[in-house]
Amino acid sequence: MTALDDFLRACEREIARRLPGQPKQDVLAAGHAAFQAALDASEPIDVRRQSIPVAEHLRHGAAAPLLAAAQAAGPELSWVASSRLDDNGTEAGLAPLNDVRDLDRSDWGHVQCGLMLLRPNGTYPLHSHPPQELYLPISGYGQWRYGGSTEFCSLAPDALVYNHPNDVHSVVAGEEPLLALYILWSDRSDG
Ligand SMILES: [Fe+2]
Repeated sequence: MTALDDFLRACEREIARRLPGQPKQDVLAAGHAAFQAALDASEPIDVRRQSIPVAEHLRHGAAAPLLAAAQAAGPELSWVASSRLDDNGTEAGLAPLNDVRDLDRSDWGHVQCGLMLLRPNGTYPLHSHPPQELYLPISGYGQWRYGGSTEFCSLAPDALVYNHPNDVHSVVAGEEPLLALYILWSDRSDG
């Protein structure tokens, strides 16, 4: 077990802890199960790690229980700039976990997940995609547009975020860096 494995397991347990009483609890539970199965079956991928400027903000996140575990896993993450921004990786970045772990070995379906990191007051732009999506907010507060709403709003402290397939969604960080885990999943029959 590496620090990244420890962090991913901690994220999986945190999603399970937050599930009871969430809106969309049933579908979020399916996302949790797909993530858990993907972790169980995963294998490390040996790749050269890359970084981008925004990754520096991982060291300065607002105190949060999972942040220390994410920081410990930092050397195992590989960061890329978002193709949805023209910021050279200074405002927002992604650390796709499928680049460092083979997460597509379970029978539960396709899982694509990673970390999203925003600098203070940074924006991850409006976007949509066919797979449904679960976000586990880890550190920092922001304004989120999600779940089919056209409004941006704050989240409750232990919230999980759910986007239906093709929901237009976005998040704007507050005064602290914002770190979240995203999980996209679909059944094998969805292709
Ligand atoms: Fe998304």
